Amino acid sequence: MVATPIKTQPRLSIQTAEISPDTTAIRSLDWDRDRFDIEFGLQNGTTYNSYLIRGAKTALVDTSHAKFRQLYLDALQGLIDPKEIDYLIISHTEPDHSGLVKDFLDLAPQATVVAAKMAIKFLEDLVHQPFTKLVIKNGETLDLGQGHVIEFVNAPNLHWPDTIFSYDHKSGILFTCDAFGMHYCSNDTYDEDLKAIEPDYRFYYDCLMGPNARSVLSAMKRMDKLGEIKLVANGHGPLLRHNLQELLDRYRNWSKAQTKAEKSVAVFYISDYGYSDRLSQAIARGITKTGVEVEMVDLRSADSTEVHEIVNRSTGIVVGMPPSSGNNQEDIVANLGTVLAACKDKQIVGLFESYGDDDEPLDPLLTKFREAGLKPGFPAIKIKDIPTEADYQVCEESGTDLGQLLTRKDLVKKMKSLDSDLDKAIGRLSGGLYIITATKGDVSSAMLASWVSQASFEPPGLTIAVAKDRAIESLMQVGDRFVLNILEEGKYQALMKHFLKRFKPGADRFAEVNIQTATNGSPILTDALAYLECEVSSRMECSDHWIVYSKVDLGRVSNPDGLTAVHHRKVGNHY
Ligand code: FEO
Repeated sequence: MVATPIKTQPRLSIQTAEISPDTTAIRSLDWDRDRFDIEFGLQNGTTYNSYLIRGAKTALVDTSHAKFRQLYLDALQGLIDPKEIDYLIISHTEPDHSGLVKDFLDLAPQATVVAAKMAIKFLEDLVHQPFTKLVIKNGETLDLGQGHVIEFVNAPNLHWPDTIFSYDHKSGILFTCDAFGMHYCSNDTYDEDLKAIEPDYRFYYDCLMGPNARSVLSAMKRMDKLGEIKLVANGHGPLLRHNLQELLDRYRNWSKAQTKAEKSVAVFYISDYGYSDRLSQAIARGITKTGVEVEMVDLRSADSTEVHEIVNRSTGIVVGMPPSSGNNQEDIVANLGTVLAACKDKQIVGLFESYGDDDEPLDPLLTKFREAGLKPGFPAIKIKDIPTEADYQVCEESGTDLGQLLTRKDLVKKMKSLDSDLDKAIGRLSGGLYIITATKGDVSSAMLASWVSQASFEPPGLTIAVAKDRAIESLMQVGDRFVLNILEEGKYQALMKHFLKRFKPGADRFAEVNIQTATNGSPILTDALAYLECEVSSRMECSDHWIVYSKVDLGRVSNPDGLTAVHHRKVGNHY
């Protein structure tokens, strides 16, 4: 194994590792996050993994991000003369994996590019030069010789419609690109430290794969028909070897739970246009937080029968504005026409702009949906510049609003069905009254909380139960910092009333309250009795809540004689 750190910022390095006798991983280690993508929320950097398989013939699986141009190409040339590489297998064409395809083909013009039909189309636009290609379908094989028969698995939507997995029958390695990955950068080639990686593995699933849960289950069914999988060679983070079955089972279980939801929302986007992909993911994450299933559909590549069926079974529809001209325009227009023809008046709709330079105008489409009787689930999201963290927050909160609109009635029904004696008895559990405040980058949020309890002495720590559909939940991931403001008996009403308000997506929660800034950057409410600066250490999933355990770094009391406000409830079925 060789590590080549670069001393200048940003910190980029390359790791090469033999992962089986004929297979080498070339991992581009990107230690610092330098852009905001929703699934990068945990800020542990990421890696872009590429693989070299040597049979009688040689294949490279994926390349790297363009920021690694020199480092990656040097590392590759240190391993092999690119002119000896016979195939370049493309699992997925997003630029973090295919950013160096053109550079590679310049060095290896003899190589045949092996990919799904959709990926080849994307690559032709990306490379702008002729190349030898081999379009493969699910179940087809490529024999590299010496036993290395590579079988391809169709895995659409993980995370673009172009995705394939590749399984090497000799080594038992399954190359999965985005799927089973995580944004976690370390020198560990493998998943030895489950505790360290599991928050990132889950967060990445929630952001990228949860909204494609049906596609995850379909791909895993196809995986079951392969031989024994000894190693998952993913495209991001450490490879799965030591906890392989456990981590695969988690994907299966999380996806099964998603698809059991009673309601679902179809999110239509264009995978390679503007910011459609990222913005739709943020909306999708907001929706799935409410327990509603999401189905992501690429308007450019879906077929109209599929679009019709998905619209039919959905209770909500979200559409990212497509381009008004360009490739496959007829398919996009036809699919949009199918969405409009198949939608029903009881459905909820939400639209967002993609900011791709050539968006179809949003308002006429919204009018058409309204005329069809659909009600808006959130105000149309109009993006006027390159999306910022605040824009992504608006998207996520809009998605949550839409999901809550769909689930509210059922939730009230379920609450009322609780046995009344039990309900009253649970209602006698008491808690204090607190406001959690958090700032992360350009994004701030706040939440009234009552289920707060001290949980440890050394280090001083506490737990907070946060409902899964709370906006602030996204700012309370492992490693995030926040402030717990403790409200004072007799003086809490104004703050409580303010923070109980229903805020519009992305609205400033602190516009009318007195605040100071804590050492950890989060707002302190100056009218609170005391505050504690906290950092999230771990999270436990408990049905409809996350139990967030945090260590307390600092605290102050403003009124030494004040008492904590107590929250008395009559029933246990709501706060
Ligand atoms: Fe890691 Fe969808 O690219």
